[in-house]
Amino acid sequence: MNRIERRLPGRASVIGALAIGVAISTLYAQAPAGPQQAIDAAFNKYKTLKEGKNADYIPALAKVDPNLFGIALVTTDGKVFSAGDLKTEVSIQSISKVFTMAQVIQEQGLESVEKRIGVDATGARFNSIIAVEAVKTVVGTGAPEMNPLVNPGAISATSMVTGGTSDAVWNKIIGFHNDAAGRQLRVLQDVYKSESDTNQRNQAIGALMLAYGYIKSNWPQAVDLYTRQCSIGVNAKDLATMAATLAAGGKNPVTGKQVMDAAKVPGVLAVMATAGLYDDSGKWLYHTGLPAKSGVGGGIIAVSPGKFGIAVISPPLDDAGNSVRAQRANADISNALGGNPYAPRK
Ligand code: DON
Repeated sequence: MNRIERRLPGRASVIGALAIGVAISTLYAQAPAGPQQAIDAAFNKYKTLKEGKNADYIPALAKVDPNLFGIALVTTDGKVFSAGDLKTEVSIQSISKVFTMAQVIQEQGLESVEKRIGVDATGARFNSIIAVEAVKTVVGTGAPEMNPLVNPGAISATSMVTGGTSDAVWNKIIGFHNDAAGRQLRVLQDVYKSESDTNQRNQAIGALMLAYGYIKSNWPQAVDLYTRQCSIGVNAKDLATMAATLAAGGKNPVTGKQVMDAAKVPGVLAVMATAGLYDDSGKWLYHTGLPAKSGVGGGIIAVSPGKFGIAVISPPLDDAGNSVRAQRANADISNALGGNPYAPRK
């Protein structure tokens, strides 16, 4: 068992959760700020915070500098604001799940993902096998209570990307990520190798997803392409641009390219809102109102629809597998800027 799953029964994160809650709640009272001011304030507030621990079940992630801290915000009219490290790339990890889900939705429609994988939170850890077992009986009899942002659903979504060969499918996956980021991204080969050597759990999940009908054929290819997409290198500006593409109705606000149909974006954001931070998604939404997605590489993107996308990179994670500093900085910045879509308009 890896660290994440091993911690499932004894998750002693109540104190941490309260700390995040208190830290975030105090911000509701903040005076309105401009984006740069809000970013600088969050950067200075959290730059010395040392809580959390790098993911280590993928050995390459344990070697990433835990002090790395970068913040970027891209508005829906293409303005970029930032603080800290914007150059260093980390592996995108689970944030890629959003864009592969988006690609499948774009290509095959909103119903395709809902029917094959489901759009319901599992309430379980991102790599839970128990969650797969719990929903297996409903496959074929109705929408499964799964979603494309946990590993089983994400591997299944990757298997849905069409293409005659593994290379053809990969070119579509990386191409969609490139369009959302606005530049040519590359795979961090050390992470890809490290995860490929140690992803027996995801292989088991891939085989189970075939057995239960979510994946139609060739689960090893789906797991391999999923592992590769998780190893794409991104910096904070890349991630913020990807988030802003969703905030701007599927149009990359920096390059102007329409990456997906605006009408399909709300479906993507809905799954992010309900499952983007796994079993802590409800708590996150309660405090920010924002669709978001975390990755065990340390990144978190958050989307304020019609306004901006924010990304924060900081590798140390909490027990749920979400970056500690990225959650806090993202929440502070959005709340300071009135980013919560459920808040009354001023
Ligand atoms: O499959 C995995 O375990 C990783 N490639 C991705 C997990 C992840 O990022 C979960 N996010 N918080």
